[in-house]
Amino acid sequence: MRYLIAALALLFYGATAAAADEPITIKFSHVVAENTPKGKGALKFKELAESRLEGRVEVQVFANAQLYGDNKVLEALLLGDVQLAAPSLSKFKRYTDKLQLFDLPFLFADIDAVDRFQKSAAGRQLLSATTERGLLGLGYWHNGMKQLSANTALRRPADAAGLKFRIQASDVIAAQFQALDATPLKKPFSEVFILLQTKGIDGQENTWSNIYSKKFFEVQDHITESDHGLVDYMVVTSVEFWHGLPDDVRRVLEQCIDEASDYANQVALEKAVGDRAKIQQSGRSEILQLDPAERLLWVDAMKPVWAQFEDEIGADLIAAAMAANAE
Ligand code: LMR
Repeated sequence: MRYLIAALALLFYGATAAAADEPITIKFSHVVAENTPKGKGALKFKELAESRLEGRVEVQVFANAQLYGDNKVLEALLLGDVQLAAPSLSKFKRYTDKLQLFDLPFLFADIDAVDRFQKSAAGRQLLSATTERGLLGLGYWHNGMKQLSANTALRRPADAAGLKFRIQASDVIAAQFQALDATPLKKPFSEVFILLQTKGIDGQENTWSNIYSKKFFEVQDHITESDHGLVDYMVVTSVEFWHGLPDDVRRVLEQCIDEASDYANQVALEKAVGDRAKIQQSGRSEILQLDPAERLLWVDAMKPVWAQFEDEIGADLIAAAMAANAE
């Protein structure tokens, strides 16, 4: 009997020691291609985390909606099936109304203004907007300003009337297209190419990087350089997972996220220029530039949407974001 107890104790000790030695697995799930700001940012995070916490963490990155689409990934975080994600800021409506701010059309003058706002106290505070619902924002990553694409040339807002546009799951973006008398359809990112190719939809809005890396430009005749909105990301984890990490590991991972953010943001700036140029060189899709008067027509058509969401988002928050344009 004594031997049996000793053997069991040894077995138990062996098992717990092995468990303690196991690296912590961090699954990072996202929907875009690897050669994008988010794709490269996720891989940079893996490289940093695994070299600084060698043997203590293992980061597995799943790109191209291989594991979860953005409609499911937040739930998966809460269930502990993945530990990190970076959905676009347009995909958090089920968890907070506040992030709808980023979808207001023509809110930010350019990506520098977005950056200033995200680094401001009001912007930082928004990273905690979902903590009561169990999700913690660790940082923002840029992708860039959105452009409109379609098979007809969209020079004026009236050109979009009657067309079907794929949108992300955002009520603000839905209202934006309704303001143009167009039909918005909420569809996962992974379905956009096929919907465009089969003419299930007429157009979509996205960044140069997403239009290039997912080949939307090959199935759209025109892209209007409207810069009317933003696709940026919140790097998000579950409160439970993050606070359950050993303190020293969490501190190093926070540092890795910060450094990966700087890197992803740099990639975003380069891709916004480089991928636009590649699309132009391809000759597959015509890029339409708006003169100031034409641009104003789009602003006038879309901006009334702000009033519909001011109460949900908060007038103070909108004012804080606008202040970033002036700096
Ligand atoms: C989209 O759904 O169009 C984007 O949010 C995809 C992404 O993650 O950039």
